[in-house]
Amino acid sequence: MKIGVLTSGGDAPGMNAAIRSIVRSAIQSGDTIYGIYDGYRGLVEGKFKEFTRKDVSEILNKGGTILGTARLPEFKYEQVREIAVKNLAKEGIEALICIGGDGTYQGAMRLHEMGVKTIGVPGTIDNDIKSTEFTIGFSTALNTACEAIDKLRDTSSSHQRCSIIEVMGRHCGDLALYSGLCCGAEYIITAETGLDEEKLLESLKEDRLNGRKHAIVVISENLTDVYQLAKRVEAFSGYECRATILGYIQRGGTPTPEDRLLAARLGKYAVDLLHEDISGVCVGLFENKVKYTPFDQALTMQAKDNKELNNLVKKIS
Ligand code: ADP
Ligand code: F6P
Repeated sequence: MKIGVLTSGGDAPGMNAAIRSIVRSAIQSGDTIYGIYDGYRGLVEGKFKEFTRKDVSEILNKGGTILGTARLPEFKYEQVREIAVKNLAKEGIEALICIGGDGTYQGAMRLHEMGVKTIGVPGTIDNDIKSTEFTIGFSTALNTACEAIDKLRDTSSSHQRCSIIEVMGRHCGDLALYSGLCCGAEYIITAETGLDEEKLLESLKEDRLNGRKHAIVVISENLTDVYQLAKRVEAFSGYECRATILGYIQRGGTPTPEDRLLAARLGKYAVDLLHEDISGVCVGLFENKVKYTPFDQALTMQAKDNKELNNLVKKIS
């Protein structure tokens, strides 16, 4: 079989480990494997290269993606995807493994409808893909966020300040919830919990009056302007307050062992599925077992349930 592999959407640590696993599993199974550069843009521009085992040496511990990635909004248009399908046909590539988030899955599903055998592999720091318990990149981003929050706690406690820390996640609160829990944040605010600013200000004021010396507030991105929020906290609560946006630092760095292992398992599984003539699906991990889900189901599934962790926050924060 001739198989292509690409990375698309936001880069995530562990994408290289997934590429390595896919390339090596495919070669081991007697396939020819092509790296496709810069996500769907590279498909449209015909940026393909046949990969050998050696092309994926020394990349297991590297963040980012050796294939490059891109966001190509025009891929939503059928005429643009037709160019991609023609380029694949010209090279004789019949199957494509797309590593990325749910936008990438949308593109892969459309290509599948156009006759290309596609498989999705979950690569995003956001952990917002419902067809897997964890996405490749989440563990590393969580580690990075925790390291940063621990450091901010040092300065926040030394100055007796309130520290508001904004973490990524697009519209998913997992990075905030998990990092806030792991770092003992006093308040964790996500899209799921909602931001009740009045309640937050009142609680911080009460804490301060009760003698609490400092506070950590971890908040998901896209909920409010944290710099302005810090000003209002300072004006109302009695705390001096500083805001920090962790930003793109969360996307980089050496992948954790968890991300490497997840990437290795899901990458090989994607190749195995193609050999079983299964496509139009994405792979994931449930209860520590690899599993596949058709794209249309994966994209419309209910979000994962964080009830237990949200209750835990209420008890121990
Ligand atoms: P992620 O894959 O991390 O969610 P994006 O949402 O940016 O990142 O999606 C990655 C790429 O997938 C987009 O830039 C676009 O090329 C493609 N894509 C997203 N949505 C669609 C869609 N509805 N149809 C076709 N392609 C899409
Ligand atoms: O999907 C990964 C992510 O880092 C999100 O957490 C964030 O909202 C978004 O990408 C940022 O996108 P861009 O790289 O286009 O600025």
